[in-house]
Amino acid sequence: MMRHGLSRPSFLLALLAGTSLMSVGPAQAAPSVERGEYLARAADCEACHTVPGGVPFAGGRAFPVPGMGVIYAPNITPDPDHGIGKWTDDEFVRSVREGVSPGWKHLYPAMPYPAYARMSVDEVKDIRAWLATVPPSANTPSPNHLKFPFSIRAMMVGWNLLNGPASSYPDDPQKSAEWNRGRYLVEGPGHCADCHSPRTLTYGLSADRAFAGTVVNGLRAYNISPDKSSGIGGWSDEALAQYLSTGHADGHGTASADMAEVISFSLHYLTPADIHAMVVYLHDLKPQSSDDAASPPRKPAAGDDTLPQATKGARLFASTCAGCHLPDGSGRQSPFANIIGSRTLSADGGRNLVRIIMNGSTLTTASGNQIMPGFAGGNLSQRDLNDIAAFVMTHFTEATPSEDKLNAAAKGP
Ligand code: HEC
Ligand code: HEC
Ligand code: HEC
Repeated sequence: MMRHGLSRPSFLLALLAGTSLMSVGPAQAAPSVERGEYLARAADCEACHTVPGGVPFAGGRAFPVPGMGVIYAPNITPDPDHGIGKWTDDEFVRSVREGVSPGWKHLYPAMPYPAYARMSVDEVKDIRAWLATVPPSANTPSPNHLKFPFSIRAMMVGWNLLNGPASSYPDDPQKSAEWNRGRYLVEGPGHCADCHSPRTLTYGLSADRAFAGTVVNGLRAYNISPDKSSGIGGWSDEALAQYLSTGHADGHGTASADMAEVISFSLHYLTPADIHAMVVYLHDLKPQSSDDAASPPRKPAAGDDTLPQATKGARLFASTCAGCHLPDGSGRQSPFANIIGSRTLSADGGRNLVRIIMNGSTLTTASGNQIMPGFAGGNLSQRDLNDIAAFVMTHFTEATPSEDKLNAAAKGP
């Protein structure tokens, strides 16, 4: 092998490649639309910048921030007047990586720019190149409703000093290439900590309690550190990969509500190699203990098609839910309706359970949308829905439901 020069054939090839590149201009600097699309999926831009069921990227989705008010996602389609069509690439990069839009508009961290700072400038330009290809929309989202002093965007200058963007950082040579790729995906575009890490007093992400779980948008984003009892230390690599890539893992239930969106808009587009890299990194995090562990499951006899009828919750479950989930929870027709072993059946006093029964959940899968209908505002009262939740908790797990906790969960964010 020649180390110091090119062998003759490769020299010729290089020359040829050089000429063909010259003929189309500086190809290396041109952003890649294809890479931009993949990164935009990995970064889940669409889920936040789209009202559920609305025009993609046209904005308007509301983000309630407890104690502060409501922030609305802007229109980021290429429309020149209502979207970001007039922005330069550099303005776009600054907005996405540093949280500063043109006109010194400091963004709130409801937009996860501190995580996106871990993407390179070129990668963010690729995202821009792809976003420029989506249909423009003239939608004008509602302005933010924030209480004073949070309404002053300049406050974010101070916030950024305390909690602000990290930047792309070198790979850790002590760790494998997979681990480094996983860290990049989880901490960067995936911004998993934005939901799964508790926040500090100044609303920064807690590094000490990273991935220990917290409540966001009225739902518990569970502890996903490798702690055996309160995290996901007991999940096999295969189960975690299956959950992240499809939204369901047998014995762990189905990703619902906000996590179903993360899977639907983002993770299910990732390559198996990238999913595996995330699994490697997640399983190597510092274990954290927390109080959102699942209660031990009760084993309903498989195929048992009888349900206790003693309580109102039991009767309502039989008439409202068992048609899809079956009395033993194993799910009729769709494996996605198999809820056995799901943490959502018991954790955090039934918080997510109540919210999911109220609002339903949609998960996009390779075989189409899996839809759990929402029951709030229908024929059943909130009291009925809480009774169903209490029944689910005691029928499928050993949890002890509390009326106060179910009521608090029902109130939402
Ligand atoms: C977790 C939800 C969320 C995700 C994910 C998200 N955004 Fe945002 N984004 C927001 C919100 C909310 C705002 C408005 C913040 C504010 O008003 O300060 C925003 C603001 C922006 C802005 C500034 C627009 C303007 O008019 O000033 C741009 C550009 C942007 N996002 C692009 C992106 C891109 C590109 C991605 C994916 C790489 C992305 N966002 C992912 C929620 C999100
Ligand atoms: C928008 C908030 C949000 C983001 C972002 C988010 N998650 Fe989640 N995650 C949740 C919620 C809420 C749940 C609980 C879902 C349920 O009840 O079915 C959850 C559940 C999970 C679970 C299942 C835990 C268990 O014990 O059942 C895993 C694993 C997980 N998330 C991993 C991730 C990873 C990895 C990322 C980043 C790529 C991520 N999440 C990003 C909100 C989020
Ligand atoms: C039309 C069929 C259908 C009906 C009726 C239905 N579900 Fe579901 N349910 C699903 C499907 C499909 C999923 C998986 C989709 C998702 O979670 O996004 C699901 C998900 C769930 C989950 C989340 C599972 C997890 O692992 O996080 C719970 C809890 C649940 N259902 C409980 C109920 C209860 C209680 C009722 C009755 C009030 C009910 N469902 C009625 C189809 C149904």
